[in-house]
Amino acid sequence: MTAQRKFLIAGFLIPLFAGVLAFLFVPPSASVWDDTELKTLHALTLTSLPPLAPDKSNRVADDPRAVALGQEFYFDARFSKDGAVSCASCHMPELNFQDARAHGRGMADTRRRTQSVVGSAYFEWFFWDGRRDSLWSQALSPLESANEHGGDRAQYARLISENYRAEYEALFGALPDLKNIPAHASPVGDENARAAWNKMTRADQENVSRVFANIGKAIAAYERKILPGASRFDEYVDAVTQNDYKRANEIFSDDERAGLRLFIGKANCVKCHNTPLFSDDEFHNTGIPQDAETEHDLGRAEGTIGNFEDEFKCWSEFSDDDERACPQLRYMHARAGEIMGAFKTPSLRKTQFIPPFMHNAQYVTLSEILDHYNRAPAATIGASELKPLNLNETELKQLEAFLLTLTAPVNAPPGLLQDPFASK
Ligand code: HEC
Ligand code: HEC
Repeated sequence: MTAQRKFLIAGFLIPLFAGVLAFLFVPPSASVWDDTELKTLHALTLTSLPPLAPDKSNRVADDPRAVALGQEFYFDARFSKDGAVSCASCHMPELNFQDARAHGRGMADTRRRTQSVVGSAYFEWFFWDGRRDSLWSQALSPLESANEHGGDRAQYARLISENYRAEYEALFGALPDLKNIPAHASPVGDENARAAWNKMTRADQENVSRVFANIGKAIAAYERKILPGASRFDEYVDAVTQNDYKRANEIFSDDERAGLRLFIGKANCVKCHNTPLFSDDEFHNTGIPQDAETEHDLGRAEGTIGNFEDEFKCWSEFSDDDERACPQLRYMHARAGEIMGAFKTPSLRKTQFIPPFMHNAQYVTLSEILDHYNRAPAATIGASELKPLNLNETELKQLEAFLLTLTAPVNAPPGLLQDPFASK
């Protein structure tokens, strides 16, 4: 081959050939993600979700016997004032472990919308205002709340000794002697329950509270098994990570992909809906309107007080954590201006998007939510962190299309999704 010919092949034909190849195989630039974007996407997938860290405050958190017992407690409506309310009354497995109501309804209506239990074991703070610092202490609140289960801890301790003695003792050791315990007593119940509680000896009070705390610990072991499942979004990121744009473009439509680009880009939803759960486990004032007449909800500003008042908090005598370190509580940053009217960022991974949405069911459709983010109205309480997005109709539709790709069945053994009493 002459030098001229070599030159022709190297200098002209090869680049031409490469160009044709590139044209045929590289997807249109809109569907390609750069390295920074790929990192962001990867951080949102379930492959980036670490295994649950042990809960040092709950010795039985990962004990399979506690999971089974917790499942029974979760579905057992005898843990209530009228024998009709269980955790599953409001957190229904078939409804993303929440309900479809504006306010959860037990003995009466609750103050806020029911949150989901799915993946909640990953959180550090519980409730819309974060007023509990462990999954097990969270579970104790509804059990004694007048609007929810409406029962009391003396009643529940007796229920354990009469119906769950063997399973309880196998996990937690011998039940205390409960023969002097009144039928109903609690430090947070109605007047009669409080009076009965105050007549008990300190030792009896502590025994009953310990049984009560252990009920929460078994329920938490069960909840730790209810995790979000892989969605179409996870499949999509898996495909682009492998540079398989052909598969990726089969998984996502153009609108869904454009919506994802907005979510991590121009609309910056990932500022708060980040991590594989699409929640930063933090509290934000996003200016969700409050009705001045019926609602005066300070959100996190109230929740921080709840954290310190909780008798089952992280450094209480009922916690199994030896070090009693509780750094999240001791070093909690609680600047009033930031937390006034702030609520916990909900996970956007759901089995389905079940309306209504937000802490007080302010919005019914996803397009109402997106319109809110687009306008960023001033907050009715505190100050909103949002800025208007100025997205057009097409972009809003694309964002909505993307959100729907996050739905997937939960990741849990099928047996745990069933009411164990229904199958007996
Ligand atoms: C009457 C309906 C109702 C019942 C019964 C009920 N819950 Fe809830 N649950 C709610 C509502 C409403 C919220 C949010 C309340 C708030 O923020 O003030 C909530 C919040 C939670 C959360 C917080 C999730 C998060 O991300 O912070 C968990 C976990 C939870 N409930 C588990 C349980 C368990 C376990 C039981 C049974 C012991 C139970 N719930 C009983 C309605 C209910
Ligand atoms: C500054 C933090 C922040 C940003 C940015 C943000 N969110 Fe939210 N998101 C929240 C908080 C906090 C809530 C709950 C607010 C409440 O109930 O008062 C929420 C609620 C939601 C809900 C309702 C979920 C439910 O279960 O009720 C959806 C859907 C949602 N956000 C989607 C988005 C989308 C899409 C974007 C981007 C356009 C976005 N968010 C940007 C913090 C944020």
